[in-house]
Amino acid sequence: MINEFEKLCINRKSIRKFSDKLIEDNKIIQILNSVNSAPSAGNLQAYEVIVVKSKDVIVKLYEAALHQNFIAQAPVVLVFVAKTQESSEQYGKRGEQLYSIQDATIACTYAMLACEALDISSTWVGAFEDKKIKEILDCKKGEIPIALLPIGYTLSNKISFIHRKDLDEMSREL
Ligand SMILES: Cc1cc2nc3c(=O)[nH]c(=O)nc-3n(C[C@H](O)[C@H](O)[C@H](O)COP(=O)(O)O)c2cc1C
Repeated sequence: MINEFEKLCINRKSIRKFSDKLIEDNKIIQILNSVNSAPSAGNLQAYEVIVVKSKDVIVKLYEAALHQNFIAQAPVVLVFVAKTQESSEQYGKRGEQLYSIQDATIACTYAMLACEALDISSTWVGAFEDKKIKEILDCKKGEIPIALLPIGYTLSNKISFIHRKDLDEMSREL
């Protein structure tokens, strides 16, 4: 029997059309609390979440992300930044090149699922110009933007079926 978490995962779909409705502050806090519970290497949480609500900054992010229209429509964009230096202080190269990136990636995944649980739509955005995003967000040395997550309410229907690999293609048993 399908459980609640499996249902949540299966129901989540990327949505690229947002309504004008703003996201309540308490929902943003709930999303951040979920992110804050995510695992991270050595519990360092070598990432930062930048909650962008300023329309001006959102438009700049949209420009730096290949002018993907839905980004400019979103009332909020969460930006996940890996703190590579913080992780490298503890774990050297592996922290810099792997753990901090994974920490930020897992954080974004938690945010996506938290949004789904709150009926808030999102789409992971990875196509952007790193340099421009760093400038917009005033990132320090060793801080690398990993993902943008435009979030918002939507009126559009979800595409109900998106092809996925069969389990035996996606996984194997030993
Ligand atoms: C690492 C990564 C980068 C992505 N970059 C973009 C992007 O720049 N623009 C976009 O519209 N969708 C982007 N997506 C969303 C994928 O296109 C989407 O997750 C995939 O097509 C599966 O659809 P679903 O999310 O509805 O299940 C990205 C997803 C991931 C995980």
